[in-house]
Amino acid sequence: MTTAKSAVAKYSLAVRVFHWVGALLILWAVVLINMGDDYIGLHKAVGASFLIWTLLRIITRFITKAPAPVPMPAWQTAVSHLTHLGLYVLMLAQPVSGLLMSMYGGRATSVFGLFEIPAMVSPDRDMARLFNEWHTGLIWTTLLVLIAAHVGAALYHQFVVKDNLISRMR
Ligand code: HEM
Ligand code: HEM
Repeated sequence: MTTAKSAVAKYSLAVRVFHWVGALLILWAVVLINMGDDYIGLHKAVGASFLIWTLLRIITRFITKAPAPVPMPAWQTAVSHLTHLGLYVLMLAQPVSGLLMSMYGGRATSVFGLFEIPAMVSPDRDMARLFNEWHTGLIWTTLLVLIAAHVGAALYHQFVVKDNLISRMR
């Protein structure tokens, strides 16, 4: 068992830290938005931080080497790569749509009072409404579906295939 465990190649430490802190940030953003109107400002600050975090994460992913995929049917490797790609796209689209909603609403976004992301567009109610719909509807729902598939796949590997895939990210 110990030999099998140590045989699993890992992502770089930086990629692993980006992964788990990113998951916590997204969870925190969702908790805050469900705590009511007093917490919208914090939701925006955490969401904007998540965007910056994700940008740094993607750069790190490009400059570090990923471990070779674990052996599994080719279609599963393909689906996992597509899911990961989709997750990255939506992890950008979710906070960007939130920012655009605020910007078209004519509001700058304060990031914990440390700095502001200015409203870089002229106010436009229709555009604000459109990004609101995407942020709370289409993009968010798709992101949730992919996260559910992702966590479901991790559980499947852990408890059904038992190939210790989780160690790559731990
Ligand atoms: C990790 C990134 C983010 C996630 C996961 C996220 C998630 C969500 C979700 C799920 C809702 C809908 C809650 C509900 O339907 O009750 C929401 C609402 C909202 N989000 Fe975000 N968000 C993120 C980033 C941002 C950013 C960066 C901004 C703006 C700068 C923002 C602004 C808002 C606003 C204003 C609402 C309320 C919309 C309304 O009630 O009509 N979000 N967010
Ligand atoms: C309990 C929750 C989670 C578990 C157990 C988990 C587990 C894992 C594991 C084991 C991998 C490596 C997969 C492989 O080597 O093929 C991975 C990769 C990844 N995870 Fe998660 N994850 C979780 C939550 C999340 C969340 C919430 C997100 C995004 C919103 C996310 C985004 C990603 C991405 C984008 C990758 C691909 C990494 C890369 O190759 O660049 N994960 N995750």
